[in-house]
This record gives sequence, structure tokens and C-alpha cells, in this order.
Amino acid sequence: MRNFALIHLNGVRREIRGREALMMLAEWLRKEAGLNGTKIVCAEGDCGACTVLRASSRPGTAPTASLHFEAMNSCIATVAQMDGTHIVTVEGMQCGDRLSPAQEAMRTCHASQCGYCTPGFVMAMSAMLERHDRADARTAANYLTGNLCRCTGYTPIVEAALTVRATETHSVARRYSDPQAVAESLAATKQSMFVEHDGVKLFAPISLQEAVTFMAMHPEARVLGAATDLGVQVNKGKPMPAALLSLHLIPELYESKVTRRGVSFGARVTLADVRRVSEDVAPEFARFLNLFASPQIKNVATLVGNIANASPIGDTLPFLLIAGGEVHVASRPSAKGSVRKRAIPMTELYVGYKKLSLDPGEIITHVTFDRTPAKDVMRLCKVSQRKDLDISAVSGAFSLTLGPRRRGVGAASAAPQVVGARIAFGGVAAMPVRMHEVELALQGELTAERIEAAAHLIASSIKPIADVRGSASYRRVTAANLFRRYGNEVLRG
Ligand SMILES: Cc1cc2nc3c(=O)[nH]c(=O)nc-3n(C[C@H](O)[C@H](O)[C@H](O)COP(=O)(O)OP(=O)(O)OC[C@H]3O[C@@H](n4cnc5c(N)ncnc54)[C@H](O)[C@@H]3O)c2cc1C
Ligand code: FES
Ligand code: FES
Repeated sequence: MRNFALIHLNGVRREIRGREALMMLAEWLRKEAGLNGTKIVCAEGDCGACTVLRASSRPGTAPTASLHFEAMNSCIATVAQMDGTHIVTVEGMQCGDRLSPAQEAMRTCHASQCGYCTPGFVMAMSAMLERHDRADARTAANYLTGNLCRCTGYTPIVEAALTVRATETHSVARRYSDPQAVAESLAATKQSMFVEHDGVKLFAPISLQEAVTFMAMHPEARVLGAATDLGVQVNKGKPMPAALLSLHLIPELYESKVTRRGVSFGARVTLADVRRVSEDVAPEFARFLNLFASPQIKNVATLVGNIANASPIGDTLPFLLIAGGEVHVASRPSAKGSVRKRAIPMTELYVGYKKLSLDPGEIITHVTFDRTPAKDVMRLCKVSQRKDLDISAVSGAFSLTLGPRRRGVGAASAAPQVVGARIAFGGVAAMPVRMHEVELALQGELTAERIEAAAHLIASSIKPIADVRGSASYRRVTAANLFRRYGNEVLRG
């Protein structure tokens, strides 16, 4: 059992133990590693000032020749969970006395004033250059969505992103894919890790068997996906839970499997990977995930974390409720017993505000959902105060299965026939809801009157909570209007 997290930081091997391993990465970089280039502004994952690049050698795989570096926010990630990864900070970008292309572009475009956001923009832009030799406006916007600047204004920053070009010499993957470092990381991740300080213990096992045994002994332990939730809470002053279980060393939890029926994502699969895999299986879900947080969050946060977080406004939940979603859980009811596995349909998972129907000690191992049938018209929507990087006030998932159109006597055109309907909402009750009554009311010929009746039924049957994101009546009207817009789009064909 290791008692340290192994990180390669700007190419240098670091073993990090005890108190330091339980710090947030950004704080550790600044206070312990002496790398002050990484800034902390919001400490909530919202501004991107703390962006670093991270590549991980996935446990249980063969060494790869080239690492795959992606941007992440370092303010809400524990050092312990960076175990086995390669981190590059802004200090690692320069080549000798030459600035990196992103640094040079920010300088020549006068894209910095106070400079506080600048390292974050440089790192986000550098992540973009790892995938694109040059960027068009859309690509640049996608990569910079997670970064805020308070004084320069975005025009020169976007200009820098549009003019910058990748160079072979500055490729982060090329400079930092040291075969020895990759082999060392993979070797370390074959051993479980246990770090402890001041009454807080974090265990990272290498097998599901060990994980459920730990949970049987510590049913109160907090399971960690990417810990984006924990990071925000700790930075807001909440104490670290006394027992933490990190799943980052369990190889099988990184698996994505596409089958004829649908897809399965392990508990460690990131939302960025879920989006990529879903492009073929559930294209509307993949499109919708573009609106989920920023690249820095999606590159680490997991789909299972979004499900287990159980927020009534969790963005993926209405989709999973209408797509035959099921969570698969494992536990070990007694420390000597065998591993028990079961599946829970998404429609039975939520039992109250932030309450799941999981038994104490149960871990979600993976989630499955069905392929979107070609004949279904699915639409996922989210209403928030701004388009990007915002939490929804209301979200909706609608899917109608249409049969052949039937022309009625004297009808000007044939109306679509609804042979199946699935409707779910987030943000309209203490938990995400599937609306079976509305679904029944939609069966048959789809007419303007039927859509209107369904919208009224939605408004009258939901019981939204009022909070800072919207009053109860705003949510009621918005939910009904989202459905109206969708229904009328389907009607128009
Ligand atoms: C800046 C920012 C933007 C965000 N934007 C959005 C957004 O647009 N839409 C949205 O819906 N959410 C958003 N979130 C919320 C959050 O990032 C997501 O819920 C994310 O999917 C959580 O994933 P994670 O891996 O970090 O989960 P974690 O934080 O690790 O876990 C979340 C919860 O799930 C539990 N858990 C995790 N894995 C398991 C498991 N395998 N078994 C049992 N329990 C488990 C944890 O104990 C914890 O209670 C945002 C968060 C931040 C910080
Ligand atoms: S400091 Fe704002 S995202 Fe980390
Ligand atoms: S240059 Fe000051 S915040 Fe961006």
C-alpha cells in the first residue's frame, strides 16, 4: 500500500503525502510547490484562473507513446486524486527563454492588463493547440468558455486565440511524454493508496472488491468521482469528511461500452468522454452536453457524479429518465460477505431532495442507457441565466415516437400520430421528475389543441421550488413553454 500520491509536475517526479495530499491542487501548487503562476480567483471552478494541463496514464493499460493533455481547474481538485497524472502549469510552458505560442499571442494581441486571468487563458489556449493547429471562432469560443477576464475585455483575447498557431517544438504532449515517467505512473497505479492527516483518511483501492469492503467498514465515507462538488464545499469552509473513498485507481470504472441496445459508462468516465461516445448512440444528448459547464469541468467531472449528486437541476438527469437509464451498484453487506450487485432504474433512484434509494455502503459502478431510436424526435433543453457555464433553472427532456401520419376526413394535411411519449423535467420539484400523466395525454393524433392541453397539464401538475434561479411561477411557466415550443416544432415537422 502506498502512502503517497505520485505526480509528475512539469516533468519532475513528486511524491506527496499526508497534509499536502489532502490540499486542493491550486493551493498546493502556490503554497507548497512554489509555483505561483497558477492563480486562484473564484475557488469554485467558475473562472478558469487556476487552469492547468493534465494527462493521466489510465490504470491497468499499457503505456502510451504520447500523453493526452487536457485543461482542468486546479482549485477544486485534491492533490491525492492527481495521483498517477502528469501536470503542466504555466511555468512549464516556456521553452528555454522563448514564450509558448499562447503566451506570445496574448502578448502581441495586448490581451492582458492586470494579468490575473492570463495564465488561465494561456493554459486553456494551450489545451486547444494540443488538438488544433489553428482555431476558428467556434473552436476558440469552445475552449475559452471556462475562463473569465474582468478587465481586458474579450476582443483581444479572442484575437490571440484566432491568430495563435501550434508548433511542433512547443507541443506539451511532445515535451512531457517521457516514457520513463509514464511507466513509473502506471507502475504506481497498480498499488492502492492511503493518505491520512489530522483525522481525515483517503483510501484509493485498485479493485472494486477493496472499495466495497472499505464502504462496509465506513458506510459514512464520501465516495469521490472527480470531487468537483467536494472541492467547492471545502473552499467555502466546510470541513473535509473524515473518510473519503477515491475510485481513481479501479481500471474497470473507466470503461465505456457501446452495445446494440445502448451504452454503459463506468463511474470514472468523464463527461467529455461521455459526450464523445454519445455522438453516435444518443446524438441529442451529445449536443446537449456542449452546454454542460466548461471544458475544464467536463474533462474531469463524471456522469456518475452528476447522477449521485442528486441535484433536482442536475443536467443529465431528465435525459436519463427518458432514455431507459439504470444505475448499477455494488456493495458488501458485511465485511466477510461477497460483493452484491444490483441495478436501479433511474425512475426509482430519486426519493426526495438530494436523496437516493441507495443502501448504506453502496457504490455506483456504472450507468447504462438506451440508444435513441431513429424514429424518435428527442429534444433536451436547459434554461439558465446565461448560455454557458451556468446551472439550469429548468431543464426538459422530451421524446415522441411517431407512427405513420393519418389523413383525417377533410383535414388539410396529415397529422403526426404519437405512439409513444416520454417527458421529464429538472428544476420543477425537489427531484427530477418523469411525467407519466402527460405522456398518456399525448398518445394519438398530435394537434395544436393536444399540445396546449399537455402544456397546461405540465403547469398544473408540477410543484417547483422557488430559489435564486427562479420563482415557482417562473419555473411553472417556463416548463410549460419549453414543451409548447418542442410540441409545435414536431407538429410543423
Ligand atoms: C464550475 C462548475 C460548473 C458546473 N456545471 C454544471 C452544469 O452545467 N450542469 C450540472 O448538472 N452540473 C454542473 N456542475 C456540478 C458537477 O460538476 C457535476 O454534478 C459533476 O458531474 C460531478 O461529477 P464529479 O465526478 O466531480 O462528482 P463528485 O463531486 O466526485 O461527486 C458528486 C456526488 O456524487 C457522489 N458520488 C460520486 N461518485 C459516486 C459513486 N461512484 N457512487 C456513489 N456516489 C458517488 C459523491 O459522494 C458526491 O456526493 C458544475 C460544477 C462546477 C464546480
Ligand atoms: S479559481 Fe476560478 S476556476 Fe479555479
Ligand atoms: S487581465 Fe485582469 S482579469 Fe483579465
